[in-house]
Amino acid sequence: MKRVGFVGWRGMVGSVLMDRMRAENDFTWIDEPVFFTTSQVGQPGPDVGRGSRPLEDAKALDALREMDVIVTCQGGDYTKSVHPKLRASGWDGYWIDAASSLRMAPESTIVLDPVNRGVIDAALDAGRRDFIGGNCTVSLMLMAIGGLFREGLVEWVTAMTYQAASGAGAKNMRELLSQMGVLHAAVEPLLKDPGSAILEIDRRVTSAMRGSEFPTANFGAPLAGSLIPWIDTQLDNGQSREEWKGQAETNKILGLSERPVPIDGTCVRIGAMRCHSQGLTIKLARDVSIAEVERIVAGANDWVKLVPNDRDLSIRELSPAVVTGTLGVPVGRLRKMNLGDRYLSAFTVGDQLLWGAAEPLRRMLAILAE
Ligand code: HSE
Repeated sequence: MKRVGFVGWRGMVGSVLMDRMRAENDFTWIDEPVFFTTSQVGQPGPDVGRGSRPLEDAKALDALREMDVIVTCQGGDYTKSVHPKLRASGWDGYWIDAASSLRMAPESTIVLDPVNRGVIDAALDAGRRDFIGGNCTVSLMLMAIGGLFREGLVEWVTAMTYQAASGAGAKNMRELLSQMGVLHAAVEPLLKDPGSAILEIDRRVTSAMRGSEFPTANFGAPLAGSLIPWIDTQLDNGQSREEWKGQAETNKILGLSERPVPIDGTCVRIGAMRCHSQGLTIKLARDVSIAEVERIVAGANDWVKLVPNDRDLSIRELSPAVVTGTLGVPVGRLRKMNLGDRYLSAFTVGDQLLWGAAEPLRRMLAILAE
C-alpha cells in the first residue's frame, strides 16, 4: 500500500493504534507512512522503521490529498471540518475514522471485520471509500454474541452497560483516579486502625464525595464510589445517544437496517478504567439449548472466549481487571432466565480501547492491503 496518512495518532486511541500496528508489523507493508499534526507542524515525526520525517499539517488539504488512505483518531470535529472538503475536492482515497460523525452516513461502512467482513467486502466492491469504527459498546457486544446474530437466533436484545472511564476520554480516567485518591485520603488514618467504626469511615467518604472540592470537572459528578446513569447527549425519545447507538449501529454493522433487530438498554458509567462490561438479556428466535448457545457463541471468532457459568470462573475471568489490555472478549453467565425458555442471560467484558476502538481500524487498513 502506498501512502497512508495518520492523524490523531498521539491521543489515547491513536496511541493504542500505533502500539498495535507496531506489534503486528503493519508498518512494513506501508510504503510511505505520513504523520500529520494539528499543532506541531514541522517537528520530527515518529520513526516507525524508516527514520523520522517532519510532521505534516493536518489541515492542509493539498498534503492530505496526496494520501491513498487517511486514518484518523483526531475526533469528530476534525472529521466534520476536513472530510467534506477533501471529498468535495475530488479526493477518492480511503478514509478510516475512529470518530462517530460519519458512522450513519449512507456512504459509510462501520467496520468490525470478524463480525461483518461480508458487509465490508460488498462495500469495497461497490466502490465505497469511508470506513468507520463502531461505538465501543456495540462492537464489544457483537464480538461477544455475533455468533447468535449470524445464526439468526436473536429476536431482540437489551444491553445494560457498565462502561469504563476511558470511553469518556483520557482526562476522565485521570479524574476517576483523583476521585479515588481523595476518598482514600479522607479516611486513611481510620483505615489503618482496625478498631475504627465503619459508619464513621462511610460518613467521611460521603462527605468528601459531596464536598465542593471533590474533582468532578470532567464527569460533572462523582464516579469513584458511585456511578453515572447517563452517557452522551439526551435525545427527545428519552434515550441517551449511547443507548440509541445500540440498535442503529448494530443493525448497520450487520447489514440489517431494512429489518432491524430491536436493541435497547440503559448505559451506565462505572469506575472501571478501560473495559466496558454488559449484562445482556437476549430473546432467542427459537428455543435453543444452552449447550448449543455456548457452541455458537464460542465458535464465532478467534477472540471470543466462553466462560462456563460457574461462580469461581466468572469471578476470575469475567472482569475488567483481568481483561484490560487484552484482545480477548470473554462471555459468560450464560443461562436461561425465569422469564421463559427463549430468554437468555449473558455477561461480557471487553477492552474499550482495543476491540472497542483501535483494533477494527487497524484491521481495516490491513484489509485494504490484501
Ligand atoms: N461512547 C463511549 C463511551 C465510547 O462513552 O463509553 C466511545 O465509543
